[in-house]
Amino acid sequence: MLKSVKMSEMDKKLFEAAKKARENAHVPYSNFAVGAAILAENGKIYVGCNVENAAYPEGNCAETIAIGAMVLDRQLKIKKIYIVGNGKNPVVPCGGCRQRISEFGVADTIVISHGIDGEPMKQNFAELLPYSFSSSHLEAKE
Ligand code: THU
Repeated sequence: MLKSVKMSEMDKKLFEAAKKARENAHVPYSNFAVGAAILAENGKIYVGCNVENAAYPEGNCAETIAIGAMVLDRQLKIKKIYIVGNGKNPVVPCGGCRQRISEFGVADTIVISHGIDGEPMKQNFAELLPYSFSSSHLEAKE
């Protein structure tokens, strides 16, 4: 269900950053260009685009690349992530990326999903990946 979205100034900045990153997407196989922009704890924005490969499963999602850029800058907390892809439907992170976001996000990390020709959708991360597997599970030893 689409919730009506109030876009803050920061949301607009993230949208612009994700849209610009999307222009660099390497998508000769799907033609589905995605850009992602992360607002990290230090207030900086880290971006990524999807990078596909002729060996299809080796491609990377835009969110994955943006997370890599954030970690490279020693930032380990996602406050917000903005994702822009093709079409009208809000482009939500795939299952694998939800798990990757969960490594650096918290329940109230905000995920904004946007199809470039439609309206954005805003969710808390917990709505996207309830009952997620996390490092706390690894504390249970044999
Ligand atoms: N893709 C992303 O980069 N992020 C998403 O949230 C959904 C899917 C990419 C993977 C692939 O390059 C293309 O979109 C089509 O699935």
